[in-house]
Amino acid sequence: MRGVILAGGTGSRLHPLTRITNKHLLPIGDRPMISYGIEALVKAGVTEMMVVTGGTHAGEFLRLLSNGQEFGVERLLYAYQERAGGIAEALGLAAQFVGDDAAVVMLADNIFGRSFVSSVRRFSDKPQGARLLLAEVKDPAHLRHLGVPELDEAGRIVRIVEKPDDPPSTYCVTGVYLYDSGVFDVIRTLRPSGRGELEITDVNNHYVAEGLIDYDVQEGFWGDAGESIDAYYAVNDHVRRYGANLD
Ligand code: DAU
Repeated sequence: MRGVILAGGTGSRLHPLTRITNKHLLPIGDRPMISYGIEALVKAGVTEMMVVTGGTHAGEFLRLLSNGQEFGVERLLYAYQERAGGIAEALGLAAQFVGDDAAVVMLADNIFGRSFVSSVRRFSDKPQGARLLLAEVKDPAHLRHLGVPELDEAGRIVRIVEKPDDPPSTYCVTGVYLYDSGVFDVIRTLRPSGRGELEITDVNNHYVAEGLIDYDVQEGFWGDAGESIDAYYAVNDHVRRYGANLD
């Protein structure tokens, strides 16, 4: 199982904080944001990973993470995304690194209260298709900023809607995705969305159409620190009080 941590993008929702640095280098508690994603993957048993980043501060990731040993990473690679062409485009840069292996992909602005090791183990036992981590989000206004799955009566995902006006469930798709190695063939078939990005939701809907998607509902805290300045501080407050990536 290989890890891919996505830390590109423009961070425009956190302007002006992100005019002078990359969003994933901003502090959460006592560490830069990306440290939590690295820690989450290491705790999930993944020790070979690639960080994908871009923009004018990419060099700072090397300074911070070096070869990853301090974090328990055995092999750390980097890729540079030329422009913020979407989450799926960023993931596509890891194709050679992942090769025939399965991958756990993590958006570096997502922070989890508890480890998701059990989901990773479940998938790596028999990697097929995609497995998502969902979190319960009761507030419809919040769900409108996220990817939201529609579930049938048996609880199966029938589609995922990105940033829905009318959220079809009270779950969001968090930024942790498990894929078999076929994901890179799926990415090659994508066309840019209306906002000019290759969308991860299109990748996931491909697996929905194939009947090859499953999910776990992640218990405990989940936050997207990149959603807004308020969300950034709410995640900070939680982590300072309770910690993150707990067993
Ligand atoms: O946080 C969970 C949500 O993340 C999901 O519910 C959505 O379905 C998913 O699309 C995503 O939505 P966001 O609006 O939060 O995506 P954002 O554009 O903020 O990108 C999230 C991370 O992905 C960002 O922290 C860095 C990485 N990224 C993003 C883009 C657009 C890249 O590495 N390169 C990119 O070009």
